[in-house]
Amino acid sequence: MRKKLCKILVTGGAGFIGSEFVRQAAALGYSIVVVDKLTYAGDLARIEGFEDKIKFFKADICRAARLDAIFKKERPCCIVHFAAESHVDRSIHDAAPFIETNIAGTQILLDISRKYGVEKFVHISSDEVYGEIKSGCFTEKSPMAPNSPYAASKAAADLLVRAYSRTHGFPAVIVRASNNYGPWQYPEKLIPVVILKALNNQKVPVYAQGQNVREWLYVSDCAKGILLVLEKGRLGEVYNIGSGYEKKNIDTVKRLLTLLEKPHELIAYVKDRPGHDLRYCLDCSKLRSLGWKPKIDFQTGTSLTVEWNRQNLGWLESKLKALSVYWKKVYRNT
Ligand SMILES: NC(=O)c1ccc[n+]([C@@H]2O[C@H](COP(=O)([O-])OP(=O)(O)OC[C@H]3O[C@@H](n4cnc5c(N)ncnc54)[C@H](O)[C@@H]3O)[C@@H](O)[C@H]2O)c1
Repeated sequence: MRKKLCKILVTGGAGFIGSEFVRQAAALGYSIVVVDKLTYAGDLARIEGFEDKIKFFKADICRAARLDAIFKKERPCCIVHFAAESHVDRSIHDAAPFIETNIAGTQILLDISRKYGVEKFVHISSDEVYGEIKSGCFTEKSPMAPNSPYAASKAAADLLVRAYSRTHGFPAVIVRASNNYGPWQYPEKLIPVVILKALNNQKVPVYAQGQNVREWLYVSDCAKGILLVLEKGRLGEVYNIGSGYEKKNIDTVKRLLTLLEKPHELIAYVKDRPGHDLRYCLDCSKLRSLGWKPKIDFQTGTSLTVEWNRQNLGWLESKLKALSVYWKKVYRNT
């Protein structure tokens, strides 16, 4: 079923993954309404060129009256909910915005979606809700055991979505994604941080000895999987989405430095992040059985990402000032 006539309201559609979803869905002919607060992480540049296919509302999902007015006007039939505070390190320094947007904001969005009778609500969650796994992979039935305030806020939102499905028969489905990378990622996440620092010949910080393992999913593959769940995912279900490309962080960093033709001596090991999960791994057979599989392997994806960042260095550097103000403030207070 292609919900071609369906109007999709996308929260967080000016963010990294949300904007890729919006670009793909708009190209397929969906009618799209984007709701985004444009926090430090949001940027309309990501959806530039799609203005004729998208309606944009600068709005906070925590503001119920504003959200209600948007629903009343637009009457979306499906919701894809990406909006979140998404950076683990920030949640360690201040959990409050994570509780507000990721939990309270989700509850407000659920209530308004119920009120207006949406047909399908796709909630975007994370592999981090499961906690770490030393061997094997998490299935959708694995218990949640989040270890960071970010992961705990995402797990709480998942539980709310589940409770609304069970209690109210609310038509929701949850997607839990592994680490994404690709064009337009904000340069506080590992891969763009490494690229930006290395291009400026600065030291590249790596937590502990870089032994943590992440499963890297190229962002266009993630958005395709979410589209598939929107179209074919069964209500009340959870779907994991990961790539199977597991890498130790140190190997990811070395791969990027090699692509950038920079010396590995730029690597600087720094004190580990508190509560740092050693490894995540997702069993994605349930989503694969719907017909999805990743198209971009790690070698290709890292090459494409480095190339995009080289071509868009101005965009990356435009984020540096705000980032350094933020980190100076955080470190002054710790
Ligand atoms: N990036 C990853 O590797 C990854 C992996 C798994 C799951 N996820 C989840 O996917 C979703 C998108 O992640 P991302 O990396 O694109 O995040 P992002 O930080 O790049 O984008 C988040 C977007 O949400 C918007 N936003 C934040 N608070 C808001 C609010 N109160 N009201 C309205 N808009 C608000 C921001 O302006 C931004 O555009 C998140 O829910 C995240 O938890 C991300």
